[in-house]
Amino acid sequence: MTLETPSFSPGLEGVPIAESAVSLVEGEVGRLTYRGYSIEDLTGPAGTFEEIVALLYDGELPSQTRIDEMRVLFERERALTDEQIEIARLAGVGTHPMFALQAAAATLGPTDNDFERKADTVVERGLSLIAKVGHLVGVIAQAADGRPYDGPRAGESHAAMLVRMITGEEPSDLQVRIMNALLILQADHSAGNASTFTSRVVASTKAEPEAVVSASIGALSGPAHGGANEGSLRLFQQIGDPAKAEEEISRLLDDKFKIPGFGHRVYHVKDPRSKVIQRLADEVIEDGTAAADHYSIALTVEKVATDRLGDRGLFPNVDLFSGCVFEAIGIPIDFFTPLFAASRTAGWMVNMQEQWESGNRIFRPKQIYVGPEHRDFVEIGAR
Ligand SMILES: CC(C)(COP(=O)(O)OP(=O)(O)OC[C@H]1O[C@@H](n2cnc3c(N)ncnc32)[C@H](O)[C@@H]1OP(=O)(O)O)[C@@H](O)C(=O)NCCC(=O)NCCS
Repeated sequence: MTLETPSFSPGLEGVPIAESAVSLVEGEVGRLTYRGYSIEDLTGPAGTFEEIVALLYDGELPSQTRIDEMRVLFERERALTDEQIEIARLAGVGTHPMFALQAAAATLGPTDNDFERKADTVVERGLSLIAKVGHLVGVIAQAADGRPYDGPRAGESHAAMLVRMITGEEPSDLQVRIMNALLILQADHSAGNASTFTSRVVASTKAEPEAVVSASIGALSGPAHGGANEGSLRLFQQIGDPAKAEEEISRLLDDKFKIPGFGHRVYHVKDPRSKVIQRLADEVIEDGTAAADHYSIALTVEKVATDRLGDRGLFPNVDLFSGCVFEAIGIPIDFFTPLFAASRTAGWMVNMQEQWESGNRIFRPKQIYVGPEHRDFVEIGAR
């Protein structure tokens, strides 16, 4: 059988890589839905990460009983062994937390390595990893900050555990609500984003879920993907004074610098997640704080960059404002992307389940070879 070669699409732009029923990104109108429900509705005051994980897996809005079940499951499954905690703590010192998290996630894997025999456990293994990756982020944050391990507490929600373990302080209801909203917003974004595509590629090799998550964390870490939330806040810190923002951003755009938190392959209007994040910013950012200055700079970035690039379909994405909100609830900058990973583990694992349920054919696209052909070998002495 010969297949006609489709034309090469750099970055696989426009190339379908999966059929999925999990989330839908509508780039022209700026809409994101999980199982058909809008992120605006899902991030309401009562929304929790546990509820959204149940929705992503079950395909239906969960009842209160199902949400309670999910909370109990998270509490049980997030447990780590002493060795896993120790490895994560060691990795958490002296390397970026994303690298520590990538390494620590891999060490959760089993002693055997053939997921095909265990494919009927894809949901339970996935749920267990979603719970554990959040815990690992907390473990790494404590180690990076030189604090002793102080693990999850009975009855603590995923969001409350994350805020407490990362900041070292008892979280307020507002902090927990904001953390839930951020976790919900970043939980999934179609099968086509780089890290979720990675999860499907790795799953297609019949790899264990821990290998899938570890590889996906690596994909998310880059500044063109999840790392942009850290990149945008670093840029705002560098600009420092909101009064200088307009001039600085214009200069950066003149130099063809890619502003982190701006532009998107699929959205050609403002990313709907950034609008929800701005709603959270209005609630949580207090005047006179560093986060307020950074948010003011972010708004100038939006204005200047939109004036210059809006007619090319470039607008703020989720990462332009998310760092300011993370900062406002006390999250250190290095932990913005690990928190994104803790949240997106849900999307990776649900996509892994879908990948298996749809036959899980190994990804093996083709290249277009442009190198030299069939040359005569030259012995070492004659070169
Ligand atoms: C998201 C991103 C990787 C999409 O990449 P892409 O679809 O391959 O688009 P390209 O990088 O080819 O950009 C297309 C054009 O827009 C420009 N552009 C894209 N994003 C830009 C940005 N953030 N700032 C300034 N210009 C930008 C590019 O320079 C390019 O211009 P050119 O045609 O004159 O060379 C890209 O917009 C980017 O790097 N953004 C910043 C990082 C970021 O926020 N990532 C998180 C995404 S959720």
